[in-house]
Amino acid sequence: MLIPLPHHLLERSGHFTLTEHTALRLTPGSEPVARLLRETLAPATGLPLPAHADGQLALVLDPLLTGLGPEGYGLTVGAEAVLLRAATPAGLRNGVQTLRQALPPTALGDTPAPGVPWRLPLMEITDRPRFPWRGAMLDVARHFMPVAFLHRFVDLLALHKLNVFHLHLTDDQGWRMPVPRHPALTEVGAWRAESMVGRAGSRRYDGTPHGGAYTRAELTGLVEYAAERGVTVVPEIEMPGHTRAAIAAYPRLGNRPDRRLPVWPEWGVCDSVLGVHDAALDFCREVLDEVMDVFPARHVHIGGDECPTTEWAASDAALRRMRAEGLAGPAALRGWFLRQIANHLIDQGRTPVTWDEGDDEQLPPEVVTMAWRTGAHGAPAARSLARGHRVVLTPWERTYLDYPRSADPGEPLGQDGTVTVRDILAWDPVPVPLPEFGAGSGSVLGTQAQLWTEFAPTPADVEYLAFPRLAALAEVAWSPRRGTPGRNSRSFTARLAAHSARLDALGVNHRKPRRPPRRRADARLG
Ligand code: ACM
Repeated sequence: MLIPLPHHLLERSGHFTLTEHTALRLTPGSEPVARLLRETLAPATGLPLPAHADGQLALVLDPLLTGLGPEGYGLTVGAEAVLLRAATPAGLRNGVQTLRQALPPTALGDTPAPGVPWRLPLMEITDRPRFPWRGAMLDVARHFMPVAFLHRFVDLLALHKLNVFHLHLTDDQGWRMPVPRHPALTEVGAWRAESMVGRAGSRRYDGTPHGGAYTRAELTGLVEYAAERGVTVVPEIEMPGHTRAAIAAYPRLGNRPDRRLPVWPEWGVCDSVLGVHDAALDFCREVLDEVMDVFPARHVHIGGDECPTTEWAASDAALRRMRAEGLAGPAALRGWFLRQIANHLIDQGRTPVTWDEGDDEQLPPEVVTMAWRTGAHGAPAARSLARGHRVVLTPWERTYLDYPRSADPGEPLGQDGTVTVRDILAWDPVPVPLPEFGAGSGSVLGTQAQLWTEFAPTPADVEYLAFPRLAALAEVAWSPRRGTPGRNSRSFTARLAAHSARLDALGVNHRKPRRPPRRRADARLG
């Protein structure tokens, strides 16, 4: 019944019932996790779960339990007592999500459900993630998403034991992050006059202004909210391409300071890119200084994808820079630019992340690359690994949830292609031992889903794209490799039927399973 599938699970018949008399036995450091358990269960169950030295439900933080790894946990549900233990609060939090899923689905709702017996099946679980990076990227630039939805999205990530929320804050169509030194970024860059209707190049527009920006307090609040749930917010500021919104705010950042351009109302890849002059580099460093101040995450994403070189090829200043740096052509300016900025982050003790464009020879080895253009496990990722980069696998065929889930004309408009639950589940990010995968000193950190929002203007649209495919990706990122007992499509389908009831209880706008659940499968936990 659990998604993602735990690594070791033994079920027994019988159950432990949580009641208003159930108390929590806590150890030093486990109080914040107790708070999370109470907060998430209180709305539906009303259970007070007070702390007591003889509590039946123990949340035990024991740093000596290192065998479970930094995020693993052990859970024993006995008839008389429940024991959740881990070496770290992150491990305990993952155990809390297992407890939530093991309860009746109404336990996840936000309205009181009186009369429901809050039963946990008797079981023994030892669990730990396969990959340390398990995430989802949400594009709030193409369509602005209210901060309340970002909180809800964090809750949904945590429920699936996903630990990275990659927030795509800037793009050609909008800039969402306030930077006090550069106020026009949000005053001008956060708004576009209208949006393209249909796919890139349609030449049709809706005539409706769109925009929005977060306040610093909202972003700081989001970071704290996510941290309490074991989720790290990784911010992304795009450069040197995907920067039309910034250039609309400050034309001097571009290659033609004399030209005023609007925030881009189109979809696709925009020709406007940052200049490779000192003013643009200083601007990026100043923006990232503010980003580092707001987001404590070790990783900071600096974009780097889809950077057309037409403007650089036509700019005397850019060509001078190219020659002065001994670069072979304008295309090499992208890697050069990213290297300057990556080094700024590294100097501050952060780890830069970029989208892999297959020509990243100039990037320092500390940079984490996201292999999005690859086939399921194709050459660019292997090349990055061979150069010593750590890699997050984000191949579009498996992880781009903005692609339609089927060719059904009833499905919402998306990119040209499909990504199905089956495509995701059938994928093994590291199908063979790493040396054969072409790795040098690099390693695969994990994987994450991509939710680009050109065609998903509202939170409900995003939820429909995400679920249940994000649940399948969580299985790939957390659970043991395919073929281990219980880790197969049939088991997932059966567990998804139960999971669907949880998504219903949470009010998630998800695509419901087509076939009714089979009774026997539905009754099993694993
Ligand atoms: C991307 O999809 N342009 C990273």
